[in-house]
Amino acid sequence: MSSRAIRRVSFAKLSVAGFVLVALLTTAFMLRMGRGEAMPATPTQEPTRQAADPGIESSVEELLGKMTLQEKLQQIQLIPDWQATDEQARNGVGSVFSLVDPTTINHLQHVAVEESRLHIPILFAYDTIHGFRTIFPIPLGAASSFDPSVASDDHRIGARESAAVGLKQIYSPMVDVSHEPRWGRIAEAGGEDPYLNSVFAAARVKAAQGTDYSAPDKVVTSVKHFAAYGQPEGGRDYNTTDMSEQRLRNIYLPPFKAAIDAGADTAMCSFNAINGVPGCANRYLETDVLKGEWGFDGFIESDYTAVAELRACPAKTPDEGPCGHGVAADGPEAGALALNAGTDSEMVSTFIRDYGVQLLAEGRISMERIDDAVRRILRVKFRAGLFENPYVDPAKADAAQMLPDAVAAARKAASRSMVLLKNEGGLLPLNSARKTAVIGPLAKSGHDMLGPWWGRGRDEDAITVYDGIKAQSPGATYTQGCELSHKDPPDYDPAQDCVISKQALAKVNAAARSADQVVLALGETREMSGEAATRSEIDLPGMQQQLIQAIQKTGKPFVVVLFNGRPLTLEKVAAQSPAILEAWFPGVQAGHAVADVVFGEVNPGGKLPVSFPRRVGQVPIYYNHEPTGRPCDPGVKWCSRYRDIPSCDPLYEFGYGLSYTTFDISNLQLSSSSVAKDGSVTASVDVTNTGGRKGDEVVQLYIHDPVASISQPVRRLRGFERVTLEPGEKRTVTFTLDRSDVGFYDNRGKFVVEPGRIDVYAGNSSKAELKQSFTVTG
Ligand code: NOJ
Repeated sequence: MSSRAIRRVSFAKLSVAGFVLVALLTTAFMLRMGRGEAMPATPTQEPTRQAADPGIESSVEELLGKMTLQEKLQQIQLIPDWQATDEQARNGVGSVFSLVDPTTINHLQHVAVEESRLHIPILFAYDTIHGFRTIFPIPLGAASSFDPSVASDDHRIGARESAAVGLKQIYSPMVDVSHEPRWGRIAEAGGEDPYLNSVFAAARVKAAQGTDYSAPDKVVTSVKHFAAYGQPEGGRDYNTTDMSEQRLRNIYLPPFKAAIDAGADTAMCSFNAINGVPGCANRYLETDVLKGEWGFDGFIESDYTAVAELRACPAKTPDEGPCGHGVAADGPEAGALALNAGTDSEMVSTFIRDYGVQLLAEGRISMERIDDAVRRILRVKFRAGLFENPYVDPAKADAAQMLPDAVAAARKAASRSMVLLKNEGGLLPLNSARKTAVIGPLAKSGHDMLGPWWGRGRDEDAITVYDGIKAQSPGATYTQGCELSHKDPPDYDPAQDCVISKQALAKVNAAARSADQVVLALGETREMSGEAATRSEIDLPGMQQQLIQAIQKTGKPFVVVLFNGRPLTLEKVAAQSPAILEAWFPGVQAGHAVADVVFGEVNPGGKLPVSFPRRVGQVPIYYNHEPTGRPCDPGVKWCSRYRDIPSCDPLYEFGYGLSYTTFDISNLQLSSSSVAKDGSVTASVDVTNTGGRKGDEVVQLYIHDPVASISQPVRRLRGFERVTLEPGEKRTVTFTLDRSDVGFYDNRGKFVVEPGRIDVYAGNSSKAELKQSFTVTG
C-alpha cells in the first residue's frame, strides 16, 4: 500500500454509538454468514461509510409506512430520459437517468415533489465516468498515472459539474478488473490489477461524494458492474464468465469492496453471468456478499434492461424486447428473480413494477423484500439531501462547467497519465523551436480525444494534437495521411479503414521532409473502445503502420503518439519507431498535454496499468498470473509457452514506463524477518534520480507467497508511490504490509493468512528485481 495514502483501520472518527452499531451489525453478519474469520479491512483506505443515521432511518420508516404497494413499486423503477414524462413524475417514479438539461430536470422534480401523493423527489443519474463537461483521460489512462489524485480531481470536478445540472447520482466508478484487451470496456476501469483498481476506486468515490453527498457539489456514486464483467469469454462484451471463488474474491471483488468501504452508496449489477448466474439475478453476490458480508445499506440498480435479459428468448413469437440468459421463463419470473436476488431498482425494463402486485399475490415475492428495496432507495435519497433541497437552479448550471481550475486539472491529469514506451537515444523531448510536422488520422481530431464516455463533452472543446503542438511550436504543419472510420458494425469495414492513397502518401512524405521532426498521431477512434466495442485484432487499425514506414524512410526524427482505449499489439510499431508515447484518450486538454510531454515541459512518469501483449494470441496475459508446474522458458520446449513466439513476456509489462531522466531503486529493507499473523512489517526502499532532469518515478512493491494451500500469483502489487525528484535527489519510500496483504481467499470464500515465507520485490515495474523475504508465524 502507498505509505502516503493509507492509514490503517481507525474507528476514531466514528462516534461511540456509531461504533457499537457497526460492531453489532458486523457481528450479526458474520454469524449469519457462518464465516470463521472477519473480512480483512480493505487494504487501501480507512473505511468512510456513513453509519446509519437514526434521524434518516426514522424518516425512511415513517415514509415507507405511508406508501401503497403501487407507490413502492414506482420507487423501484428507474427510467431513461426518453421515458421521463410529467405523468411518470406524478406517479412517483423512483429515478431517471441520462437527462441532463437542468430546466427539464427541475421541472420534473417540481412535478414529483409537488404533484405526487407523497412528494418523494426523483433521483437523477448520469454516466459521469471520466468527466461531465470537462472530460478527463479515460480511467485506464488515469490509472497509468499511478497517482490517485488524478482520479480524485476527475471525480471531484465531474461531481461538481453533474450536480450543477441537477444530477445526484453518477454511474461510476467502473472498477472491473480486466485481463481482456479485446474487450472495449477495458478503457473504463483501472486495468489488470485489483490493488491499483482499489486505490483508484476509493479515490473516485471519496472525491465525488465527499464526506456528505448532500452537499450541493456532490453526488452519490454507483460502483459497477457487479461483478466480474471484465472477464467476458473471448473478450466479447456482455458474454458469460466462469470463475473460481478464489479468483472472484482475490482479483475481481476487491475494488468493489474498496469503493463500498469508501462510502459508495449505490451499485450496479452486471449484464454478464458468472458460473451461469447473471449479475442481476445473483443472490450470492448481491445479497450474501454485498449486502451481507460487506454491510452495504444502499441500493443496487440493474444495468440497462438487464432484468429483461434474464428471460429466455421466445422461439417463434414476436420479440418483446431484450432477452437471452434463459434463467427466467417470462417477464414476471425475471422480475421476481431479480428482486429476490437483491436487485433493488430496475433500469429501463419494467417487470418488477408491472408484475409486482401479481407476484406478491402469488407469494413469489415478499412485502419484506419490497420494503427492503424501497427503504434502501429512500435512505439514499435522504442521505443525498433531496428532501430538503430537491431543486437545482438552471440559471447557475452553465457557470459551473469547464471552469479554469477544471481545465487546468484535466491538462495535468492528461500529461500525468501518459506513458513513455520507447525513447531511443533520448530522442524526446523534441525541441519546440524546430519545425514540427504533425501527421496522422488523429492529429486534428477533437472528437476522438474525448474517449468512449464523453458525457456532455463537446468535440469543439477538445484541444487537438495539432493545436497543442502548434501552440508550443509555431509553424507546425498538419497532414492527415488517412481517415479512420467512425462507423459501427454492421457498417464498419476494417478493410476500408485508414486507406492511404498515393496522393496522401506523397503529401505525408513532403510534409515530413520539409520539417525537422515529426509527431505522428495514431491509434483508435473513440468508437473502437467502450461498450459493445470488442476487437479481434488489437493492432493499429487500417494502414496506419504504412504511415510509420513512410516517415521512417524520410530519416526524420519522429515520435508515435498513441490514442487508444486498450492495450495494443505494438511489435511492428516498436520495431519501426524510435519513440512511442502512449497517450490513451487524454480528454479535453489532449493537445496541450501531448505538447507538454513531447516538448519536455512535463517529464512523463506514467506506468502501464495493463500488460501490452506482443500478439493477440497471448491474451489473456497479465503479470499477476498463477504459476504452473512448467513455467515458460524461451529456451525450452516442454513448458507453458507459444511455439511461435520466442519470448515468455508481453511486449511491455504491467508497471512499465520510461522517463526523460533515470532512476536507481535500491536498498530494500524489511523492519523484521518474521511477523505474527496479525502483525505488520515495514518495507523501505531508496529511490534516486540519477539523471539530469527533474522527473517522476513510481516505486512499486510486489509480494509473492511461494508455498500456499492454493497456488499464489507470481507477483501481487501491494504498494506504490509516485515521487518527484530533482536531479541527484534521493528519497526513502516506506510501505506497510499486514494480514490484508499477505492473506488471500481460498475456494470456500474464506480469507486465510497462512504461515510461511513471503517474498517482497521492489522496483519500477512488475519485473522488479530487488528482493527480501520475511516469515509469517503462528
Ligand atoms: C449500460 C452500461 O453497461 C452501464 O455502464 C451504464 O451505466 C448504463 N448503460 C446506463 O447508461
